[in-house]
Amino acid sequence: MTIISYKTASAQNCAEFIDKDIAIFYPERFKASDTLPSFALIKEPETMERLPDDFPVKVNFYKALDKNCAYIPIDDDTSLYGTGEVTGSLRRNGAARILWNTDNVGYQRFHGLRLYQSHPWVLALRQDGSAFGVIADSPYKQEIVLTEGIRFISNGPPFRVIVINKKSPEDVLKSLMELTGNMPLPPLWSLGYHQCRWSYYPDSRVKEIADTFRHKKIPCDVIWMDIHYMEGYRIFTFSDEHFPDPKKVNDYLHDKKFKSVWMIDPGVKNEEGYFVYDSGSKEDVWVKEASGKNFTGPVWPGDCVFPDFTQSKTREWWAGLYMDFMKLGVDGVWNDMNEPSVFKTSTYTMPTSNLHLGGDDLPKGAHARYHNVYGMLMARASREGILKANPDKRPFVLTRSNFLGGQRYAATWTGDNISSWEHLRMSIPMTLNLGLSGQPFNGPDIGGFKNDATPELFGHWIALGAFYPFSRGHTHQNSIDHEPWAFGEEIERVSRTALERRYRLLPYLYTLFYEASTTGMPVMRPVFFADVKNMNLREEEQVFLLGKDLLIIPKWAQSPNLPEGNWHTISLVGEDSENDAYQPEIKIRDGAIVPLTKVIQNTADYSHDSLYLLISLDDKEKAAGVLYEDEGEGYGYKKGEYLFSSYTAEKKGDSVIVRKTKSRGKMKFKDRIINIEVITGGKVFKGKGKEDQPITIRIK
Ligand code: GLC
Repeated sequence: MTIISYKTASAQNCAEFIDKDIAIFYPERFKASDTLPSFALIKEPETMERLPDDFPVKVNFYKALDKNCAYIPIDDDTSLYGTGEVTGSLRRNGAARILWNTDNVGYQRFHGLRLYQSHPWVLALRQDGSAFGVIADSPYKQEIVLTEGIRFISNGPPFRVIVINKKSPEDVLKSLMELTGNMPLPPLWSLGYHQCRWSYYPDSRVKEIADTFRHKKIPCDVIWMDIHYMEGYRIFTFSDEHFPDPKKVNDYLHDKKFKSVWMIDPGVKNEEGYFVYDSGSKEDVWVKEASGKNFTGPVWPGDCVFPDFTQSKTREWWAGLYMDFMKLGVDGVWNDMNEPSVFKTSTYTMPTSNLHLGGDDLPKGAHARYHNVYGMLMARASREGILKANPDKRPFVLTRSNFLGGQRYAATWTGDNISSWEHLRMSIPMTLNLGLSGQPFNGPDIGGFKNDATPELFGHWIALGAFYPFSRGHTHQNSIDHEPWAFGEEIERVSRTALERRYRLLPYLYTLFYEASTTGMPVMRPVFFADVKNMNLREEEQVFLLGKDLLIIPKWAQSPNLPEGNWHTISLVGEDSENDAYQPEIKIRDGAIVPLTKVIQNTADYSHDSLYLLISLDDKEKAAGVLYEDEGEGYGYKKGEYLFSSYTAEKKGDSVIVRKTKSRGKMKFKDRIINIEVITGGKVFKGKGKEDQPITIRIK
């Protein structure tokens, strides 16, 4: 495993193109070895030519109060987004935040201005719909201040800035993906609904939860194991009392078509005789104090040592620990507390003077340098270990801490939110801004982590949560039960309908994940994507788009700004969302074809033979759409075992003709019958036919 190489002698005080419309700016006194190799970029960019003076984005480097800063002016009507995982509003103009990964329960520490992840990235959308994006390429603690223009104020040495200047935000996000890497296509099961709490234990409770989903016919794919499965919170161990036979638990879950995700934290109990501690000590993998001795600090298991993931030997040792673990039938891994969180400290983490030894291309450095990428390096090593253990499967890692580019290794959630209306509402701009920062696979704890949800709040949250890219219910150990059935019959019905809607959308959702993994477009998008020039949409954060074809309008949205055009309310499972108290309205864009499947209880029951196309004709009486399909697991798709189909629909007289116009990939579904639903003139017309031939639907 090698880290990307970087130039040791880099330009100073210059600006050059590294690609068409992408420029790199170096300040005076820039020293590559101070901040590089880049953690955000997948490879060191090659410079092409000097930047002309008329490049539309200027970067001014300066020093203030001993800090190295960069200032990028913007026009008055430019809207700012991105900045990663943040509290506050979607449009970031006027906001400030600190990039210093912090365990921040309830987002209450440091006024919520620093959370678990760092994305030194701002997306700027000009009035005319053109856009640019800015990366401050440094892992050090920094502040992003957006009160006037874009300002990065770093605690670290002089850093370089990369600017992507394009004609649309879509193009900027595509370049961001090309520079920072894509989200690998996740396994299909991870797009299902996930059920978690801190913690389901003993193992009989896990089975009970799984059985209840199936018994009550509430769709679900994954059950999660939080820290109580371990023996005294020692990672890679299992409690004799509560989980004596983890393989049996996984077998049980698999039998019922569930997957399992198990937690692994970075803190290793500082205890001789414990195999993880002993093997790590033998390899000497622990983060050091400035004095050179192992740093120790308390987390769940008590006093812990912490793997130094800047060393390749540590990452290899760590990856190796997953070999036996995954053999137990574990499907996915949850990396938590990896800011890293250290209890009983005023900073909630380790001292910045701690030492990381590096190696290969990473220099030895203080924790001040490596703090923000600790979680990313951990997630990367976890992913590599999981892949080695199960080379034919797509790894699923969820990480709490991460850094710009971290979509390469793991999905994420927004940490310890609160069961409150404020946090329910805020989950939308949080998820959107993470998507606009290169991380499409994310979502908050549905129902809220801290405190008890009320039935009403939970109902609204799960009804909305069915549309988060990562859809997982989770809650604190002291909270009341937060399962879909824990709040009485009405909310149980609400939850069932919500999740049935998600599962009907699975082909569409999977196509969006494919798109995200190949183009960098977020799965969940701000409504301004429907019309980038419409200034009224720039601040809209109650309503959002799922892909480009569906508009999701929560019941509690007050006077939302909706995109123009004809958007028709649809019903996916017989719900009447216009009159329903909980289910968000889903509107389809006219001219769209959205692929659906039937209601299923889990993704294992997903069949390519059960395909529906929901068609909304535009004012020219036409529609078009795409569908991506593959095995949902493994890497066959990389060898062509997939099918990417384009469909069109067109009105001819009293009929609509639906055609498959193009396809790519080797997968074949012989004589597949497609069910069609055409929305036109306020009515729905149904029919079906063989996919390989034009399908005619009578609409009179
Ligand atoms: C942290 C996590 C939370 C988890 C808890 C116990 O607070 O953010 O999701 O349940 O630790 O492991």
